[in-house]
Amino acid sequence: MKTSGGGDAAKRRAGESAATAVDDGDVVGLGTGSTAAHAIRRLGERVDAGLDVRGVPTSFASRELAASEGIPLLDLDEAVGPDAPGVDVAIDGADQVAVGRGDEPTAGALIKGGGAAHAREKPVDAAADRFLVVADPSKEAPVLDRAVPVEVLPAARSVVAEAVRGTGGEPTLRRAERKDGPVVTDNGNLVLDCAFGEIRGPSGLATTLSTTPGVVEHGLFVDLADEVHVGTNSGVRVLTR
Ligand code: A5P
Repeated sequence: MKTSGGGDAAKRRAGESAATAVDDGDVVGLGTGSTAAHAIRRLGERVDAGLDVRGVPTSFASRELAASEGIPLLDLDEAVGPDAPGVDVAIDGADQVAVGRGDEPTAGALIKGGGAAHAREKPVDAAADRFLVVADPSKEAPVLDRAVPVEVLPAARSVVAEAVRGTGGEPTLRRAERKDGPVVTDNGNLVLDCAFGEIRGPSGLATTLSTTPGVVEHGLFVDLADEVHVGTNSGVRVLTR
């Protein structure tokens, strides 16, 4: 259920804008998806030019890309702890960003997980001192209304699906495109894409999903984004909380 829409030039502008915000010496969370990939490539260029950073990947795909770009890597466990450097900044994409209905768009809650990487993205993005979201205008919405990806233990998929139906949601098992059967995450689990219509209380729904037995992680990222870099045809808009 990768998000559609959004030109690659706009995604590139967003990714490169966020990569420019990284400072020498930073530990950087490296998000997943086509927009975050632009940030990783730009960071790779900056590393070639002498920037000293270490990246914390959020998926097999972001690790593979960052390694090919020559970015030194750390696991999250090595980055966070009593004698560890911490994560200075994370850069990650989103499938939808709530920007409100007012004249001044703000960096609100997110839906992530279109690439089924949200279970590893969330702890990295949450651990960062600054979380920069990179997006194109097709991701902005007054209110979140996309289906929420929910990673579930394989044995619990029916239990979680029933619980989601009980809260008024409609779960759909995500199917693989070039493999028979379901999408299997980097963690060996399955994904239910859960449609709830307009999500007017994302933090309440996030709590409900987090406390449902069998749920590994869901794609609602509430109160985490510090900035959203929105690439456009002509430049970049930066939204703050
Ligand atoms: C990965 O699971 C997602 O959270 C991505 O960050 C999200 O799908 C955005 O991807 P694109 O930048 O490719 O739209």
